[in-house]
Amino acid sequence: MKKNTMKKFFTSLAVLILALSACSEKPLSNVPEPYMTGQKTYIRVCGICHGDNLKGNGAAPSFLIETYQSESFSDQQIRNTIINGSKSKVMRPQRGKVSDSEIEEIIKYIRFLQKESGLM
Ligand code: HEC
Repeated sequence: MKKNTMKKFFTSLAVLILALSACSEKPLSNVPEPYMTGQKTYIRVCGICHGDNLKGNGAAPSFLIETYQSESFSDQQIRNTIINGSKSKVMRPQRGKVSDSEIEEIIKYIRFLQKESGLM
């Protein structure tokens, strides 16, 4: 292959990879019915910082790590973080944005995706 052709090839490859990785960050579309309300609420309230698919965004942690699986971080701790913010207060309380039942749906969704990811 000529140098120019190679360059074009690798540029298109890079664009393709970028496009694919951007796609993988779209909210999952195959979430079973019982978790759909949780997903919608999670995306509305938490997704902007923690990522629509729980992978974090740099500043806010991913939930798909051992630290946040249920043995190390209980449902009650998640509930508490949503209501009162994180211990360091870097994450502000989200209490005004969600009802009690929405909090439960969000927790169900987080546990579901953790399980799907093979964490628990
Ligand atoms: C404005 C951004 C933002 C939003 C919105 C947000 N978080 Fe956070 N969250 C953070 C940051 C940043 C941290 C890390 C804070 C820290 O280390 O103290 C965090 C930490 C956490 C933690 C871990 C706390 C700990 O003690 O380790 C949990 C659990 C959590 N968030 C759940 C949620 C849930 C559930 C929602 C939606 C209801 C949500 N967050 C919405 C930014 C956000």
